[in-house]
This record gives sequence, C-alpha cells and structure tokens, in this order.
Amino acid sequence: MIEIKQEQPDDWWEVEALYDLCFAPGREALSSYRLRDDVPPVAELSLVARDEHGILAGAIRFWPVHVGAEDALLLGPVAVHPTHQGEGLGGYLIFEGLEASKTYGWKRVMLVGDAPYYQRFGFTRLDGVDMPPPTNPERILGFDQAAGGWSDVTGQVTRWTR
Ligand SMILES: CC(C)(COP(=O)(O)OP(=O)(O)OC[C@H]1O[C@@H](n2cnc3c(N)ncnc32)[C@H](O)[C@@H]1OP(=O)(O)O)[C@@H](O)C(=O)NCCC(=O)NCCS
Repeated sequence: MIEIKQEQPDDWWEVEALYDLCFAPGREALSSYRLRDDVPPVAELSLVARDEHGILAGAIRFWPVHVGAEDALLLGPVAVHPTHQGEGLGGYLIFEGLEASKTYGWKRVMLVGDAPYYQRFGFTRLDGVDMPPPTNPERILGFDQAAGGWSDVTGQVTRWTR
C-alpha cells in the first residue's frame, strides 16, 4: 500500500537522498538546477509517496519558471525508488501533480526529460523554448494545461523572480 501526501519541510533531505540514489552523480550540475537555485518548489504540487512502513518510495517536485514573458511550471525532479519502479508509481505522481497544477490555475508545464516516457502523459517537444545550456533541445518537452497553453509562448527559460 502506498500513501501519497504533500511534501512537508521535514521530508526535504529524505527526498534529496532518493534523488541522489535515482539520478546520476552530479545531478545538481545540470542546467535545470540553476532555475531552482534559491527558489522554493511549489509546495502544493510537490508530493511524496510512502509505503506501509513509512519508507519513501517516490517523490515529485515542481518549480515555477518564466518562459519569455510568461509563467510556467517546471516538472521535476521525479523519482521512484528502484524497488518500486515499474509499478505505475512514477506515472501516478506525474498524473496527480499535473491534475493539481490545473486546479491551481497553471496553464503550461515543461520539463527536461526522455520523450519516450513523458509522451504518454501528453508532453511533446517544445520549439522555441530555450533552456540554459547545455541542454539537448530534443529533451525540452511541454504540456498544455489549458487549450493553447503553449501557443506563442517562446523564449528563454529563466529563474522565477516574483
Ligand atoms: C522515470 C521513473 C520516475 C518512472 O517511474 P516508474 O514508477 O518506474 O514508472 P511507471 O511504473 O509509471 O512506468 C513504467 C514504464 O515507464 C517506462 N520508462 C521508465 N523510464 C523510462 C525512460 N527513461 N524512457 C522511456 N520509458 C521509460 C518503463 O519502461 C515502463 O514502460 P511500460 O509501461 O511500457 O512497461 C523512474 O524509473 C525513476 O525514478 N527513474 C530514475 C530517475 C529518472 O530518470 N527520473 C526521470 C527524469 S527524466
């Protein structure tokens, strides 16, 4: 049995440890992390999944960013502990996070990741949206939360300043 809850401040380092386990060393050197420096994640969208023993099985966070003059959500990191991968938990966390983001009025979501995984949720390649280098443009993906959410939204992805 897995329970999903909003991430709390006390969960922070446990989630970091899960990300360290699931991602290649040096993950924080990735350009997407420069968009997260000194900006808190969106608390109401960041979720933890724990098993019946309270052990962390998966987590997802979202950050606010600017794309050109518009606001967007940056999905990730999302990770599932290797002992729980392939059980649908990653998909569930992404689905729940996307649903919640709609509720909170976000019009567009983006991420840097593997298109073969994220296309099942409706993410497609974003043209004209530039992440800080070095980022493979093929991995810059977007999801319309509202009709036309990404129409005419282009430019540099920059750190949230509000
Ligand atoms: C990616 C991740 C979050 C998926 O979580 P999960 O709970 O294992 O995923 P689900 O059970 O919902 O989905 C499993 C399916 O996704 C596929 N999948 C997982 N990672 C994939 C990837 N990088 N590319 C393509 N397909 C992928 C699996 O092959 C499986 O396919 P199937 O449904 O056809 O059998 C998890 O594998 C993980 O933590 N990986 C390490 C960290 C990471 O890469 N995070 C994402 C950054 S882009």
